[in-house]
Amino acid sequence: MKYCLFIDGEERIPLNTYVVNHPYTGEAIGEVADSTEEEMSAAIEAASKAFSVMKTLSSRERANILYRAAEILEEEKEEAASIITKEASKPIAASRMEVERSIQTLQFAAEEAKRIGGEYIPLDAAKGGEGRDAYTIYKPIGVIGAITPFNFPLNLTVHKVGPAIAAGNTIVVKPAEQTPFSSLKLAEILTRAGLPKGAINVVPGDGPKLGKVLIDDDRIKKISFTGSPIVGKLIKNQAGLKKVTLELGSNSALYIDKSVKDHLKKIVPKAVIGAFSYNGQVCISTQRIYVHKQIAQKFIDLFVKETEKIVFGDPFDEKTVVTSLINKKSQQRIMEWIEEAINRGSKVLTGGVMKGNGIAPTVLQNVPEDCNVSCQEVFGPVVIIDEVENDLEALKKMNNSEFGLNAGVYTNDLTQAMEMAHQLEVGQVLINDVPTTRFDHMPYGGVKSSGYGYEGVKYAIKEMMQMKMISLNYHI
Ligand code: SIN
Repeated sequence: MKYCLFIDGEERIPLNTYVVNHPYTGEAIGEVADSTEEEMSAAIEAASKAFSVMKTLSSRERANILYRAAEILEEEKEEAASIITKEASKPIAASRMEVERSIQTLQFAAEEAKRIGGEYIPLDAAKGGEGRDAYTIYKPIGVIGAITPFNFPLNLTVHKVGPAIAAGNTIVVKPAEQTPFSSLKLAEILTRAGLPKGAINVVPGDGPKLGKVLIDDDRIKKISFTGSPIVGKLIKNQAGLKKVTLELGSNSALYIDKSVKDHLKKIVPKAVIGAFSYNGQVCISTQRIYVHKQIAQKFIDLFVKETEKIVFGDPFDEKTVVTSLINKKSQQRIMEWIEEAINRGSKVLTGGVMKGNGIAPTVLQNVPEDCNVSCQEVFGPVVIIDEVENDLEALKKMNNSEFGLNAGVYTNDLTQAMEMAHQLEVGQVLINDVPTTRFDHMPYGGVKSSGYGYEGVKYAIKEMMQMKMISLNYHI
C-alpha cells in the first residue's frame, strides 16, 4: 500500500515517508507520509478554505454525501477490512465487523444531519420578557482537529469525521502512526461521494509533533481525541478556548450476580469475547470481573474452559480471535504487569505467556486492587476474576478505579440492577450485557480519567456545533 497524505481533495507527495509494518509478521506493508509541520499547516489551510463551502451546504446535501459514502464503503468493504487487518493485525472477522459498524456510523451521521434542531424558549417567563419569541439554532464551528487511535482505525475515525460533516464542519485527521491507511481510504471514499475538496484532510506522521500544530493553530476550533489519559490531559491543558472531546481509557468492570446462576452458559462466552476480542485492545474491554461467591467457582471453571478454546494465530485466518499486539512495547509492558501480579500472590488460571508478538489469553485470580493489571488500563488479553460477598462489595470494587467509561451488571434482580446503575461511577451502564458493548448511536463518554465530553453520533454533532439564540420582540 502506498498512500501519502491527503490534502484539499487529493493525494499529495510528501517530503518524507515512513514504513508501516504488519504487527503479526513484522513485514513492511506500505509507506506513508511522515508529515512535516508545514504539511499539517497546509492541511489546516485547506480545511479553513473549505469551511466557506461546507457551511453553505444544506443538511440534505450533507446527509446525501454521508449516505453515498456509506454505499461506497459497502461496495468496497472487503478491501477496507483487509486494510484494517494489515495495519492493525485485527482478526479479519473483527475487521469485517468494524467495517459494517463504520457503514452504520456513516448512515447514523447522515440521519442526524437532518435533525439538528434547537428549542423554543418562552422569554415571557422572565419579568419584562413579554412579547418575545426566542429559539436556539446550531451553527457549525469550523475546522475540527481529530486525533485517532490504532484500535478501530476506521470506525473511530468515522465517529469524528461523520459528525463533523453532518454538522457542516471541515476536518483534519491525524491518524495513529501504526494505522494511517484506513483513514486515507475513508478520505478518498468521502471525496468520491461528493464531499467538497478540503473538507477532509488526513495528515499521517508523528503524534506529538503534528498534534502540537493542531492544538496551537487558531484556525482549529475543536480537538477530538481518542487515546491515553496522559495525552488527553495534556491536550486539555493546552487547548485554551478550543472545544475538546476526550475519549480515554478504562479498566472496565463486570458484576455477575447469583440471580443469573441459570444463565451462565450464555453469559460466559459473551464475557470471554468481552475480555479478549481484538486482544483486549479496546477501551471498554472487560478487564475486571466480580462474581457472587455462590456461583464464582462455576463461573470461573466455565470461563477458563471457554478461554482455552480461543484460537490464537494469523489475523487473516477466519478463526483467529487473539493475535499479535500492536507492538513489542505493549507485549513487554503487559508481561511485566502479569509478572507483578504473580509476584504479589495472584494465580494464573490460564495463559500468562507470550505467543509470537502477542500474549496468550490470560485469566488471573486474587489480584490485589493496586496491581497494574487491576487499577491501570491493560489494553491487552488479560482479565482478572474475583469472587465477592455480594453486590455491595462488587460496587465498591468496581468504583475503586480512576476510570469510568462502561460497566456491566448481570442480574435478574431489578432493584439491584437499578441501584447499581445509579451508583456506578461510569458514563454508561449495561445491564445484562458486558461492558464491551457499544452501539454506534449510543452516547459514549467517560467520567474521571476516562474522558471529557461525548461521542455517539448525535452527541458528537452537538459538541461540534455552536448554539445561537435568536429572539424576536414582536411588540416593537
Ligand atoms: C474504543 O476502544 O474506545 C471503542 C470501542 C468500540 O467502539 O467498540
